[in-house]
Amino acid sequence: MLVTFEGIEAAGKSTLIEALAQDLGTRGEPVLVTREPGGTPLGDALRAIFLDPSRRVDPMAEVMLLNASRAQLVADVIAPALRTRTTVLCDRFFDASVAYQSFGRGLDVESVLEVCLVATQRIAPDLTFLIDIPVALSRERVRARGGADRLERENGQFHEQVRTGYLALAERFAKRYVVLDGTLPREALAAAAREHIEQRRNAALP
Ligand code: TMP
Repeated sequence: MLVTFEGIEAAGKSTLIEALAQDLGTRGEPVLVTREPGGTPLGDALRAIFLDPSRRVDPMAEVMLLNASRAQLVADVIAPALRTRTTVLCDRFFDASVAYQSFGRGLDVESVLEVCLVATQRIAPDLTFLIDIPVALSRERVRARGGADRLERENGQFHEQVRTGYLALAERFAKRYVVLDGTLPREALAAAAREHIEQRRNAALP
């Protein structure tokens, strides 16, 4: 099962993924954690280029860089793991390209989606958690962390558009989306996500 985690900057994806992975691991279930862009040596190299604040990257070039990383990740990591019935927890997947490059940068949604589906061999998530937080809180957390990357440096309006994009995706793909309130305490978020994963697995059992 492929479970993806989405949200604007500093929404709390990594903390949630860590808690869920620990949970599944403790129960002896096969689990794999990965992220985008990245997750392979090629992807990690592309990630460094993509996030480098000193570069100017055209929006369509962003899509291509991200999907090069994605294609490698799917081919080398995600598809093989799914074949062995491992639960894959992926920190961002192609919805991020629609939210950031289409809603954020203004590229056509359907074209970006099609490029993404070609890159993933048409593999789509079984379940997607959108951890939703207000942009003001996101910016506060990024500031507190320090050292903002190229995307984190974009203005508030860009991040509002990305948030709007995610909420639109959650409506469009309502069957696989669960929107979580990212302002809830960590434990409450993890408990809610755990329950949704359990439900989804039971529904998928033969
Ligand atoms: P992360 O720091 O949350 O791992 O994400 C890296 C950054 O890359 C984040 O600002 C979102 C951005 N991104 C896109 O713009 N498009 C994408 O398709 C992906 C996967 C990430």
